[in-house]
Amino acid sequence: MNMFEVEQFLTQYKEEMELTDSWLKERMNEVRNNHQFDPSSEELIFGARVAWRNSNRCIGRLFWKSLHVFDERDLEDEREIYEALLRHIKFATNNGKIKPVITVFKPGVVRIWNEQIIRYAGYETEKGILGDPSSITFTKVCQALGWHGEGTHFDVLPIVIQVDGREPSVFEIPKEYILEVPILHPHYKEFEELNLKWYAVPIISNLKLSIGGVEFQAAPFNGWYMGTEIGARNLADVGRYNMLPKVADLIGLNSSSNSSLWKDRALVELNIAVLHSFKEMGVSIVDHHTAAQQFKIFEQQEKEGNRQVTGDWKWLIPPMSPATTHIYHQPIANIIKKPNYFYQKAPDYELYLK
Ligand code: ARG
Repeated sequence: MNMFEVEQFLTQYKEEMELTDSWLKERMNEVRNNHQFDPSSEELIFGARVAWRNSNRCIGRLFWKSLHVFDERDLEDEREIYEALLRHIKFATNNGKIKPVITVFKPGVVRIWNEQIIRYAGYETEKGILGDPSSITFTKVCQALGWHGEGTHFDVLPIVIQVDGREPSVFEIPKEYILEVPILHPHYKEFEELNLKWYAVPIISNLKLSIGGVEFQAAPFNGWYMGTEIGARNLADVGRYNMLPKVADLIGLNSSSNSSLWKDRALVELNIAVLHSFKEMGVSIVDHHTAAQQFKIFEQQEKEGNRQVTGDWKWLIPPMSPATTHIYHQPIANIIKKPNYFYQKAPDYELYLK
């Protein structure tokens, strides 16, 4: 245990929650006597929210105070952990009115192997790649663990849960838990021929939450999507679903000349389709212009709270029309504050890749 980090966190907690100096003194004594820092529920909630506030790559931080925290630190049974994840999915999905949620599991014991709780599989076949190319390695791991996908472009991967270094357990997510949005265009009817869809809730499950020196390796969290994540990256990147040539074809653009800006035009129509489809189905989503305006309000709010806003510029600028947002035009310091969410070493799946 790093007493310096514990004290730093509890001091921040005391100040922001307006507690007394004697509270801090007593709490520190308690930590010293226990020889460990076991955050209370209130400290955990505060820590998870501030970790979001400190997430330099996130444009959606205005809503940090609304993060809903499920404290599942008492679970050590794989199936019970799986059931807690289903509760997370259901509560966060909320029939489309997505709520920001985090579920915190026991540190040093629980590990989730998925990158996101809901994600599409990727397969290498003789006819080329099927599904999401970014999932190829993890899909192989799932197959080695006995899972078989249906073989579509949008097979949802199972959840892989490891407890205490034991063999990982594999659980399918029942279909009724997974809200998905078919991607259609408000004017180009032909979009339906592309048979595109995306899932509603991105639940990041491979980052660790660090609070007062305690590292929660399993603490999956979600917000709602910004349209460009799907329309300008997941469905558009050449190394992902690579749909721009197909979209261009569909709407009759001349893709033989770069200077026709066919990629840019296809990108705009694809992103219009993503935003339109989510809205039409009543699923929360934000466009990048609105998200940038919300980030501006976050900056003002932080200024009023006398806190420096830190950020990672190349992640905060949206991948479409970045210079139309204020974020593009101002520098931002990429200083790492804690609590925060961090990358961690990949789980031990080498064995399953032979
Ligand atoms: N960019 C990731 C994806 O497309 C999701 C990252 C988290 N995004 C969010 N809006 N909370 O799946």
